[in-house]
Amino acid sequence: MDTTRIALVTGGARGIGRATCLALAAQGAAVAVHYRSRADAAQAVVEQIRAAGGVAIPVQADLLDPAAGARLAEQVRAELGPVDILVNNAGEQGTAAVAELADAEWQRSLDLNLTAAFRLARACLPGMLARRWGRIINVSSQAAYTGSVRHAHYAAAKAGLLGFTFSLAKEVGPHNVTANVIVPGRIETDMLAEQLPARGAEWLRQTPLGRLGRPEEVAAAIAFLASEAASYITGAALHVGGGLVMG
Ligand SMILES: NC(=O)c1ccc[n+]([C@@H]2O[C@H](COP(=O)([O-])OP(=O)(O)OC[C@H]3O[C@@H](n4cnc5c(N)ncnc54)[C@H](OP(=O)(O)O)[C@@H]3O)[C@@H](O)[C@H]2O)c1
Repeated sequence: MDTTRIALVTGGARGIGRATCLALAAQGAAVAVHYRSRADAAQAVVEQIRAAGGVAIPVQADLLDPAAGARLAEQVRAELGPVDILVNNAGEQGTAAVAELADAEWQRSLDLNLTAAFRLARACLPGMLARRWGRIINVSSQAAYTGSVRHAHYAAAKAGLLGFTFSLAKEVGPHNVTANVIVPGRIETDMLAEQLPARGAEWLRQTPLGRLGRPEEVAAAIAFLASEAASYITGAALHVGGGLVMG
């Protein structure tokens, strides 16, 4: 990868986001490691990248704040340069049956899992369009395809990311900016830790490869989509789920 590429990865302090920061840095990108609450974990990722000779900074924001997207894009521009690679990875899976789901919980899920990605894309796009180079990679979920009991608000937001990404790909393609969506299956991170003891065996039965995925396996797909090698791929939904969802 061209060493001048600047990447912003939301939720970069742990899980899939952390692995993505490391993979992009290994490809030569300068990485803004976004975090909400885990400053120490974000700093550790930054230090790991710097120790390997790379360039990285931590950037903090609660993406439920409507102003966060524009502020983050500006902070990265000021400290590293304009964002070339945007990875909308931060997410949260609330749990509630639809019959008991409060408006506020529904709204929170849409705000974080869908609207934050739109706001960040909107903030980063003018620079990408002007430079005629950009990569926007949104992280959806298998739940968008299969549905998920007690996670309808999460699945709806993640399904929204698909339509958003495909529309964006059509809109910005003529400017040499690509937009793709990654669809993780069941990946071993904090997000699944609570449900794992009760549901792990069922998950393995549903997964042809017969195991959970590792964050690094999702990060490798994201890094590929961010690379020059993926220059003719846009509007793709890339499944990284051991065969859990096919197509
Ligand atoms: N793990 C899976 O099996 C799986 C499957 C399908 C899709 N996904 C998707 O993959 C992405 C990464 O998941 P993961 O498993 O790596 O999750 P994770 O380990 O639970 O990490 C979630 C990340 O989101 C950030 N975040 C949460 N709320 C935020 C907010 N209000 N503002 C800003 N950042 C916020 C967290 O930041 P802090 O820690 O700094 O608070 C954290 O970095 C998510 O979009 C998730 O929906 C995961």
